Amino acid sequence: MRPRFLIHLNVLELIKIFFSKSNVRIFEKKFSRHFKLKFPLSFSYGRSAIFCFFKAMGIEKKEIIMPAYTCSVVAHAVTISGNNPRFLDVNFDTFNFNNKDLLKNINKNTAAIILTNTFGVAQNVQEIKKIIKIYEKKFRSKIYIIQDCCHSFDAKYENEKITKYGDIILFSFNISKTITSIFGAITTFNDKKIYQKVKEYRDKNFFKKNTFAKLKRLIYIFLATIFFNQKLYFITYFLQKKTNILKSLTDDHHLDEKISFPNDYNTLLCDLEAKVGINQILKYNQIKSKKIKISKFYSNFFKKNKKIKVLKFNVNNTYSHYPVIVKNKSKVIKIFEKEGIEIGEVIQYSIPDLKPYKNQKRTKNSSFLSKHVINLPNEYKIPEKILKKFESI
Ligand SMILES: Cc1ncc(COP(=O)(O)O)c(C=O)c1O
Repeated sequence: MRPRFLIHLNVLELIKIFFSKSNVRIFEKKFSRHFKLKFPLSFSYGRSAIFCFFKAMGIEKKEIIMPAYTCSVVAHAVTISGNNPRFLDVNFDTFNFNNKDLLKNINKNTAAIILTNTFGVAQNVQEIKKIIKIYEKKFRSKIYIIQDCCHSFDAKYENEKITKYGDIILFSFNISKTITSIFGAITTFNDKKIYQKVKEYRDKNFFKKNTFAKLKRLIYIFLATIFFNQKLYFITYFLQKKTNILKSLTDDHHLDEKISFPNDYNTLLCDLEAKVGINQILKYNQIKSKKIKISKFYSNFFKKNKKIKVLKFNVNNTYSHYPVIVKNKSKVIKIFEKEGIEIGEVIQYSIPDLKPYKNQKRTKNSSFLSKHVINLPNEYKIPEKILKKFESI
């Protein structure tokens, strides 16, 4: 069984990493230098960074505009910080929200807008910046842009890096992301004053991991590296499908149906995680190029297929995951399973359909996508012979 995503590490590398000398500050510096970004600040989770940002900036009881089709923990972070998410529906061409809908939803209580650049498809941040300027003048209050680049590390919109815009730019390195630091995240800032405020809040309210917590991270990354090895993945797949063992592990740090944070959300990144992250920065360009190349191949392959819908290929996107809209998701997943290929389902819900957010306005497209999108592995190419099976569905 070939896994839905790969972890670009092996046990030998992990042993080397364990004995190497480096630290969190070096990881932050190397990351920001590699991506040509300013003022890096690390966290244990991306959601902790979003939470910390709102707290540091004194944003409370405000509305935060965000897409309905994104990772549930982003909405949890907004809610736990004492704010209210306002969900916008997404379109089928980019999986991001339309700026027309943004115009209808900004109001005097809007404090921030989260752009998700879903699956690495860059959002038109330049236009959003212009819209925001008009409303900031009208309401005489600041509206922050949160660039969620967890899927789109160095994506561009019309040849301009999207990270150039945004008050806070977020990158997550959990193991399902393009590069990993086990868990972990880095935010960067375009404004030194905002960086200093967030850093000050983080340094006061976040704590170093104790030895037990560090040991847990070490065990986690060893097990993940072993169990995501392609030769052993059939065991992981079996445990995933037939038992609750792996679910109980992921439930520790990710619940969709309950607004909660992991117990260690307010811990700082530790040196072990930073050292894994440093190893990964060096691999980023190669992983990204491969993902783009394979995504281009899939896009061309499916272009003329009327039964399924794929995005128009654009080399400026990073394609963290390759999305395909299909009629019958479970049937497709089963067909690929028979061929020994696991298909990803990165976002299987629309947030307003989840129990804790049921009082929010439903979002039609997002609900549809949650039931009809699969993500093809794009770190290795599914052979054409197998892709052709789509035609029989
Ligand atoms: C788009 C997006 N934003 C934010 C996050 C949150 O990252 P973390 O799991 O590090 O809290 C995720 C998590 O997978 C994500 O997919």
